[in-house]
Amino acid sequence: MIADPARHSKITVRPLVENDLSAADRVIRLAFGTFLGMADPTSFMGDADFAYTRWKADPSSVLAAEENGKLIGSNFASNWGSFAFFGPLTVEPEYWNRGVAQQLLPPTMEIFRGWGNRHMGLFTFPASTKHIGLYRKFGFWPRDLVANMTAKLDGISDKTSAGPALFSSAKPRDRSALLIACREVTDAIFDGLDVEREICAVVDQKLGDTILLWDLTKLAGFAVCHTGAGTEAGSGSCYIKFAAVRPGAQAHRNFARLINEVKSFARACGVEKIASGVNMARREAFLAMVAAGFRVEGQGIAMETGDANAGYNRAGVYILDDWR
Ligand SMILES: CC(C)(COP(=O)(O)OP(=O)(O)OC[C@H]1O[C@@H](n2cnc3c(N)ncnc32)[C@H](O)[C@@H]1OP(=O)(O)O)[C@@H](O)C(=O)NCCC(=O)NCCS
Repeated sequence: MIADPARHSKITVRPLVENDLSAADRVIRLAFGTFLGMADPTSFMGDADFAYTRWKADPSSVLAAEENGKLIGSNFASNWGSFAFFGPLTVEPEYWNRGVAQQLLPPTMEIFRGWGNRHMGLFTFPASTKHIGLYRKFGFWPRDLVANMTAKLDGISDKTSAGPALFSSAKPRDRSALLIACREVTDAIFDGLDVEREICAVVDQKLGDTILLWDLTKLAGFAVCHTGAGTEAGSGSCYIKFAAVRPGAQAHRNFARLINEVKSFARACGVEKIASGVNMARREAFLAMVAAGFRVEGQGIAMETGDANAGYNRAGVYILDDWR
């Protein structure tokens, strides 16, 4: 059910354009900072960025809500092939509870329909009756907790080792084959899952790099990492936006190898910590993160379409992502 239209008669929803980005960035920080009760809400996320990098990755996937020419909210959608998620969804605090989010969500679902994703999800605050109630109206059901984990890096970079294989080091003519190899890994876990958009955003916008883990000639796994200011990581941090390991007998071993490769990459970048999210239904992956020295810093909840088994959040899946 959509909110009473009389409450938002002057609000329009349209694609977000480049000129909107600084206003959208301000509303994202202000909305989350206010919701979390921060003394200076606009300092939310420090020098990390969602708005600019996600818009550049795919301008057609971002919506703006405006009233009388003023941007008062936005929502970002991400297309991962057979799966898609939305967020950050934010509304200027003085407009909360006037149906603005409920104006942004139907066109977001329309974007998903256009992409043809068969499974959709989002990350939200498990303790908020408002958030859970709002998203339930649009077909999302609360599922598992998502652990947001960090590990402090100690030790120094091993200058003698060749370092991990990196997507950015591949010749441009070899990159489409590498994107296909990455898709094979994710497709083996969830039919059609494909994070090409993230790998390309990282290399095109120089947000970090994608670490490639090889088993002889076959790609065994990969990790898409953001590092530093102006990315989803922020200063001093390496954020694993997405990582996956090919299923099979070697998955556990390869996952531990991949995390080690991320650590050497992060050390070489000179950052102090690694951050990543993992859905706790992926029990083995979560426990392997704990074994690798990661601690849970906070947790959210995944809400998903479909029934309790839909999607790729299940035991035995070695994927890191959090849909934030
Ligand atoms: C979350 C946020 C985007 C919602 O935007 P909004 O414009 O205030 O939301 P709307 O007014 O469209 O919808 C509010 C709905 O929440 C639901 N809701 C609120 N309280 C509820 C409760 N106690 N139980 C169940 N549902 C509840 C209702 O469906 C309500 O709509 P209704 O009054 O028409 O029934 C906004 O509050 C925000 O920016 N928050 C800070 C950032 C954030 O948390 N973003 C989302 C991250 S997942």
